Amino acid sequence: MIRQLINGASEAPLSILDRGLHYGDGLFETMLVANSKIIHLVDHLYRLRDGCRRLNISTPSSETLVSECALLLGDVKEGVIKIIVTRGDATRGYRYADNQVANRILILYPPVHYAEQNWRCGITLRVCQTRLGSNRQLAGIKHLNRLEQVMARAEWNDDDIAEGIMLDAAGNVIEATMSNVFMVENEQLMTPDLSECGVAGIMRKNVIDSAQTLQIPLKIENIPLQRLVCADEVFICNSIIGIWPVIAIAKQGFELGPITSKLMNLLKVLPSA
Ligand SMILES: Cc1ncc(COP(=O)(O)O)c(C=O)c1O
Repeated sequence: MIRQLINGASEAPLSILDRGLHYGDGLFETMLVANSKIIHLVDHLYRLRDGCRRLNISTPSSETLVSECALLLGDVKEGVIKIIVTRGDATRGYRYADNQVANRILILYPPVHYAEQNWRCGITLRVCQTRLGSNRQLAGIKHLNRLEQVMARAEWNDDDIAEGIMLDAAGNVIEATMSNVFMVENEQLMTPDLSECGVAGIMRKNVIDSAQTLQIPLKIENIPLQRLVCADEVFICNSIIGIWPVIAIAKQGFELGPITSKLMNLLKVLPSA
């Protein structure tokens, strides 16, 4: 069952003038609910607030969002909460008024059941044809414009391929359609630089913090596809799946290696047996 709250009310309509609908003028967060807790809630609220600041959208208070999440959850223990914040209702045209009031849409979805082998044995990736455009102004934030991901995800129907790598125009790996990418090369953890495009994922941040805790050296830099394909280990991550090791990219095979395993153990991302 899906539950919703629009500006705090379960029965409220969303205006057809909403700027999120017209222009993708807004942001979203997708959060895992496990054992009645919203995982990484503080990180999600921080990224949302930061995105609102960068787009000059009025930020709903964290107190409001936290209490609305609790209301939405009720006694539900497992699921996924999506928060969408849009700039508010439009007049006609791209220009926005100084006093726009943001709209908040909260949705509770049932839990997603991915195959346990995705965590335990790893997944296969493809390399998408659809490229990511570069724009420093939007890089890192989780804005509502996701047409590149929609186009990329439409490139395959094979259920044996769990995710698709996305490159920028220069052929550098940026992320996958719904997740961030890490690789290990000579015991060094690496993840792409996201200063031109890509979403700075909450799980990516947690992996980076965990690498520090485990004293695993980390580099954030441009990673051409050819370098990723030659890596010793590859994994992807997001807030819902945690970490999935990668065992194949197209025809290139990988081992589920020790650094991926250490990070998975520390972050407790394995599904309970
Ligand atoms: C395009 C894209 N990149 C990265 C991520 C990972 O973000 P997070 O770790 O915050 O879930 C997502 C998650 O939905 C995404 O859609």
